[in-house]
Amino acid sequence: MKKYQGAFIKNDREIACLREANRMVANILDAIGDAVAPGVPTMRFEEIAREMCAAYKVKPAFLGYCGYPYATCCSVNEQVVHGFPSARLLEEGDIVSVDMGVVYEGFVGDAARTFPVGQVSEEARRLMQVTEESLYVGIEQARAGNDVYAIGAAVQAHVEAAGFNVVRRFVGHGVGAKMHEKPEVPNFKPGMRGLTLQNGMVIAIEPMVTIGTHEVDILDDQWTAVTRDGKWAAHFEHSVAITHDGPRILSISDRGLNRRTIGS
Ligand code: MF3
Ligand code: CO
Repeated sequence: MKKYQGAFIKNDREIACLREANRMVANILDAIGDAVAPGVPTMRFEEIAREMCAAYKVKPAFLGYCGYPYATCCSVNEQVVHGFPSARLLEEGDIVSVDMGVVYEGFVGDAARTFPVGQVSEEARRLMQVTEESLYVGIEQARAGNDVYAIGAAVQAHVEAAGFNVVRRFVGHGVGAKMHEKPEVPNFKPGMRGLTLQNGMVIAIEPMVTIGTHEVDILDDQWTAVTRDGKWAAHFEHSVAITHDGPRILSISDRGLNRRTIGS
């Protein structure tokens, strides 16, 4: 693999593997989305993910990563990311962010979506919609020759125009043979220049958006990130290849792109 400023340039075969890994992740997220309902424990999503990984004969990417104990992250309401799946039963009006990764032929797929549980408040619906929109606004900037920070600048502008805020503590990332590669892909505009995107780079773009403060705290479990003010957060993530034809979303399921909160 060639390298450019520390970021790997993937060849067509490597991108095909990343596409397959992400197709599986997107199919798993589709199945989890179908299971979201009031009264369901988030541990059910973990079971679905593990069953589908077994059927696909792939390994979950998160399980054991830096000691993370599950295959999925299930983050409810004020939980931003890295929540543990649990026996907690979802309630009507909750929102749940599910993040999932697999390793296929040595390549990592990584994607996330926030789902509404039954009927949610207008504010929660708008939070999810703006977050998902901001992901696509960011993806639009994932083009060769652009500064990687153009992505975060676009995400942040979209989110803040809607009156919401972007989390700074966690960022998107290059993704390939390792889950976290260079470059970092912030969801805000840092006050400097970043790496220039090149064809063959693959990045995970993952805006985390809050209704209130962007500040987060980590719970005693050492993982779960919650908003400091307890207001709710949403998270959408796609893995995206930079190609001669522009951004190519890799985490598309067999059902299609599935932009559930904003329509297609
Ligand atoms: N999508 C998250 C990320 O890119 C998933 C990592 S969760 C972990 O950082 F548990 F594996 F760390
Ligand atoms: Co990620």
